Amino acid sequence: MSIKCVVGLQWGDEGKGKIVDTLSKQADFVVRFQGGHNAGHTVVIGENKFVLHLIPSGILHPGVICVIGNGVVIDPKQFLAELEQLRRKGIRIKNNIFISDRAHLILPYHKVMDNISENKLGQNKIGTTGLGIGPCYTDKYARTGVRIIDLFDPAYLKERIKANLSHKNVMISLAGLKPLAWQDIYKEYLGYARNLKPYVVDARVMLMDALRKNKRILFEGAQGTLLDVDFGTYPFVTSSNADISGLSAGIGITLKKFNSIIGILKAYTTRVGSGPFPTELSGFAGEDLRQRGGEFGATTGRPRRCGWLDLVSARYATEINSVDSIAMTKLDVLSHLKTIKIGMAYKYKGRTIRNFPSGARVLEDCGIVYKEMTGWQKDISAVKSSRDLPAAAKRYLDFIEHSLDTHIKIVSVGPDRKQTLFR
Ligand code: IMP
Repeated sequence: MSIKCVVGLQWGDEGKGKIVDTLSKQADFVVRFQGGHNAGHTVVIGENKFVLHLIPSGILHPGVICVIGNGVVIDPKQFLAELEQLRRKGIRIKNNIFISDRAHLILPYHKVMDNISENKLGQNKIGTTGLGIGPCYTDKYARTGVRIIDLFDPAYLKERIKANLSHKNVMISLAGLKPLAWQDIYKEYLGYARNLKPYVVDARVMLMDALRKNKRILFEGAQGTLLDVDFGTYPFVTSSNADISGLSAGIGITLKKFNSIIGILKAYTTRVGSGPFPTELSGFAGEDLRQRGGEFGATTGRPRRCGWLDLVSARYATEINSVDSIAMTKLDVLSHLKTIKIGMAYKYKGRTIRNFPSGARVLEDCGIVYKEMTGWQKDISAVKSSRDLPAAAKRYLDFIEHSLDTHIKIVSVGPDRKQTLFR
């Protein structure tokens, strides 16, 4: 039996899609367990670029069965549109994608509420993707959510939508917007019930069966540990557990044995939206990394904030996820640099801090103690074996491995499947 999980060790956008795609070759099932279509997983295969938001990246491999667990929030319109896009690009969709009947549905009022609450926060806004993710999880925990299974009980669906809307419309009206009509939403979602039916299963049962049959399962985390609702830079986080802790609740199985938990770490750091970012680079240096790394959101197109690798947060994320090995992505993006900096510790009110602080306001005020390393200044995007990496690049990897006490087993030197080195 092989059970692997891929999790992000930064603020998302670490390049999980590419690594999941690489590992999917040795998987029978690829499973999403949290988040929603706020994720944007990019996979490049030759001339073709696929950007997946909701559907696991494993879909690009014939024979792999993809499952969306109960912990994911699903916008049915997005799900169906993504399927259609994949079909148009020649990907076969037949008995290879399933969604949990317990997953919560994103409804039109969630998107509206997302924007209202962001506007209300003004300068303190979180910078969400605006897709209704937070309000959908809010309803889930307030026990007023609508789940996939409810689509198949029209009377209950109608009652739920009407009851929810009577509350939401008060706030929608207060925000000066036109109230939504329950009839429109009800009709739209009944239509989705018909279209989604072939994909809906009890995902927990499906995965238990797979485990009994010794199938190989790969779990695909979305976002990253620093966006986790408990361990991230709260309140500048997403609304789900975006680290390994989201897995059990998000699929309904407590896994006693993982063959490996693979943490994805970009060779530098990025973040989209607001919130503290100690190693952030401003001015030309940040812009240079953004352009060279193509650091623009796969979901919203927003420019990503860029900065140096931060080993304080990386160590924290490595511990939280009990990471067995690391896949380092985008090492090629640093190739032009004469000197590369790595954040080693924080300075707060004259004290040196090595543990990641719990308060976003503390983190905001932290200075950084940097280590400088000599760059390799050589294009590495065509390197075929990790042995052929320049000595300075090997030193960079060795130093990170040593600092995090974890092996870097995969190194990505470009977006294509072929630009992946194993160590
Ligand atoms: P939400 O998930 O849309 O509520 O957004 C909350 C925060 O998480 C914002 O800062 C978003 O930019 C960020 N975020 C959500 N999903 C992703 C992702 O997949 N990659 C990077 N940042 C994300």
